[in-house]
Formats: sequence, structure tokens, C-alpha cells
Amino acid sequence: MSDLTKHQVTLIQESYQSIQAQQGYLAEAFYRNLFRIAPTARALFPEDISGQMDKFGDMLEFIVNNLGTPWIFTGKVKRLGRRHTGYGATPEHYDIVGEALLQAIEEMAPNSLSEAEVEAWTSGYQGIANMMKEAAAAQAA
Ligand code: HEM
Repeated sequence: MSDLTKHQVTLIQESYQSIQAQQGYLAEAFYRNLFRIAPTARALFPEDISGQMDKFGDMLEFIVNNLGTPWIFTGKVKRLGRRHTGYGATPEHYDIVGEALLQAIEEMAPNSLSEAEVEAWTSGYQGIANMMKEAAAAQAA
């Protein structure tokens, strides 16, 4: 994304790969954290979320792999944001999802995350979340 430096893109991609390398299932840790932080969000999801985990994991991987070339995922992410209005996602939910994701990455990374890595993931997530929220708001306007 435009507000991530090249170095931050590398930090995100390398820490993501270190999780993949030890076959950590990031999506599982993410949902566990999400429903612990916000138990009421559970009702928005279907009862069986295994398919959901795969979809979230695939989307995360696609975005992370293309972070250096954001135009590849911009349209996809905006459409994802518009679909999320129908899923009942509110702007407040995005902050909670960000917290749950960051915690999951910190848990799963072999040596947790450095301060610079936390900063990179935080701005990366905020960039994606803003893109989704803005597309959803533009649709509602
Ligand atoms: C960067 C943030 C997010 C990403 C990358 C993401 C990704 C996804 C993906 C890939 C799907 C599969 C369905 C589809 O492609 O439309 C999905 C479904 C869903 N997401 Fe998200 N999501 C994000 C944020 C949120 C937030 C903030 C909420 C609010 C709690 C949320 C709630 C849901 C729900 C409820 C579904 C399932 C809908 C259903 O199958 O009935 N997501 N998400």
C-alpha cells in the first residue's frame, strides 16, 4: 500500500512466511482471538466456520503476497468491503478484527514480533481496513 515503506512490506512478508514455514494455522488463532475479544461477533458467522477460515486465510495470503503491488488487490478488497456490509460488519468491528489478527500473528510467529514488525502489520491492516470501510461507506451514500 502507498503508506507502507518497502522495508515494511518486506517485514510483513518475511514474518508471514516464518509462520507458514512452521505450518502455523494463523486463521484458526485469529478466530479464536476474535471470539474471545468479541463473543457477540460469533453470531454473525455461520455455525461451521471451517470454510470461512480457509477463505480468510487465502485472502490474507493473497494480500500479503501482493503488498508491494497494491493495484493487484485494490478492486478485490473494495468488493470485499462492500460484501461485508451485508455480513453486519461495523467500523468498530474492524478495530477488534485488527487486534485479534495482530495477536494471532504475534502468537504464531516463531520469535513473536519486533516493534518494527508490529508497526508494519498495524499500518498494513489499517490500510486494508480503510479500503474496505471506505468502499462500504461509498456504497451506502
Ligand atoms: C481486513 C479485514 C477483513 C478481511 C480480510 C476479511 C475477509 C473475509 C473473507 C475473505 C470472507 C469470505 C466471504 C467473502 O469473500 O465475501 C469473509 C466473510 C465474513 N467476514 Fe470478514 N474480513 C475482514 C473483516 C471483517 C470484520 C471487521 C467483520 C465483522 C465482524 C467480518 C465478518 C465477516 C463475516 C460475518 C463473514 C461471513 C459471512 C457468511 O459467510 O455468512 N469480517 N471475510
